Amino acid sequence: MASFKRVYIDSLTGAYNRAFLDEKIAEILQNARDEGKVLSVVMFDIDYFKRINDLYGHAVGDQVLREFAQFLKNSLRAGDILIRYGGDEFLAILSNVGYSDALKIVERILENCKKQEFAKLRITVSAGISSFPKHADNWESLFELVDKSLYFAKRNGRDRVGVLQNVGRVIIPTYDIVGRINEIEKIINFVESSKKAKVLHIIGEIGVGKTRLVKEVLNHPQLKSYDKFESLLSPSTKSIVFYPVRQLVKYLAQKNDSILKELPPSLLSEIYKLNPPENSELGELFYVDKFKLFEALKELLKVYTQKVSPLIIFIDDAHWIDEFSLELLSYIFRSEDAGNFAVIFASRIEETKEDLIKKFFGLLRRDFMEIRLMPLGKEELKQLTVMVFGQNVPDFFVDFLFFKSGGNPYIAYELIESLTKSGDVYWNGESWEFKKDFDFDVPSTLLALTEMKIASLGAKELNVLEYMAVFGKPVDLDLLSDLTSLRYEELIPIMDRLENLGFISRDFAGSYYV
Ligand SMILES: Nc1ncnc2c1ncn2[C@@H]1O[C@H](COP(=O)(O)OP(=O)(O)O)[C@@H](O)[C@H]1O
Ligand SMILES: [Mg+2]
Repeated sequence: MASFKRVYIDSLTGAYNRAFLDEKIAEILQNARDEGKVLSVVMFDIDYFKRINDLYGHAVGDQVLREFAQFLKNSLRAGDILIRYGGDEFLAILSNVGYSDALKIVERILENCKKQEFAKLRITVSAGISSFPKHADNWESLFELVDKSLYFAKRNGRDRVGVLQNVGRVIIPTYDIVGRINEIEKIINFVESSKKAKVLHIIGEIGVGKTRLVKEVLNHPQLKSYDKFESLLSPSTKSIVFYPVRQLVKYLAQKNDSILKELPPSLLSEIYKLNPPENSELGELFYVDKFKLFEALKELLKVYTQKVSPLIIFIDDAHWIDEFSLELLSYIFRSEDAGNFAVIFASRIEETKEDLIKKFFGLLRRDFMEIRLMPLGKEELKQLTVMVFGQNVPDFFVDFLFFKSGGNPYIAYELIESLTKSGDVYWNGESWEFKKDFDFDVPSTLLALTEMKIASLGAKELNVLEYMAVFGKPVDLDLLSDLTSLRYEELIPIMDRLENLGFISRDFAGSYYV
């Protein structure tokens, strides 16, 4: 018994662990098959769980998990199986329960969950369901479907059960990228064109699809053999000296923990000044010998790409790069023997006009490419719209969208969301209907969109935004709670909404800024 516990029980929550699932699932399914019974698989996932860990620490996070597991156990029948599948993912196997019953059960669980506290905190949960034999008759497919269903739930706003058919809901953004075939091919060819260091600069207006394009490239099977490092910059990282470089070093060291030892000690010590290894005595930042540091990074990239793997470095929203990082990169690119890596910058055309990056690229001659990313064409926008609605759409609607968005997918998505909210596009129970005469004042520019978004804010949200604007610096929830006299549980949904609308962002430390 003791050893069963050790092998099959998750010690934190007391639920079964994944080893149990792996061991038993074939048998469970076979029994259902033999007895001609139904069964449903449910995956629960706590929304924004990482935030709990970040805000309150892991001890509180663990307590939430414990209490949540207990809550699930209490909500299920004695014969049901509860498995802790991953960090905050719990999988339940409900025997003798078909899909429609499972849906009712899970919806009730999600409702009850909101009525109580876990480690004194309020949480919401997303869930996915797949059923045997309705959806699939083998575990692999059942799991794929429960995962997909959970994904729909997350994509559609969390705090819900994802429905597999996804009927009556727009899917934004689309699962598959639309168009960009030439760009993808061009970028892959460029990355593979030589074994030397190279830089690619993607510029385009906000929302045109720069990030999406690069993500597609990074996930492309043709670039499977590359390690990929991504760094997303923002106004607050701009003031952190060497921000993306520090992240890069951490990434490389994590991927291959012995790589740093390949460097001569004198160079290594410079790198340690940027990123002190854990448990080291080098707490404070020493004076950095810039050129030694540059040399160290160059060496690190060279050794890494020779001995471990070629590398793609993606620096997103690169118009916010700090000048030290840029200087370092130009140093590396000027040397003859840099390693086999590609740096991809994506930056907004509005911000790139006469800034650092332009100057940087002015200095480069070799192995450099620039792609100006243009909005989608009308045919592509039509494809995108069909994917969003999961059905054919009338031409007049596509014309209208194209006219208003100019083919910018972000604006197109915003418009579609507004039109479904206003009821100008609605679900009649079987398919989407598109009203011909829109009773909807459509903003024609991003600026107007922003104004429309502001108009949609509630009093409390506006209030919070005002406080933040006046305060001017990043604020954490504690401070914000003091300033506004709002409690955490009121504040967090407000912050989520403001963040979703793009009014505020969060920095690496979890503080919010306007
Ligand atoms: N080619 C595309 N096909 C489908 N969706 C797209 C495409 N390009 C962009 N999107 C979507 O449009 C939105 C804005 O794109 P994003 O890449 O974030 O823009 P940018 O980085 O240029 O500001 C995202 O939701 C993204 O998924
Ligand atoms: Mg982007």
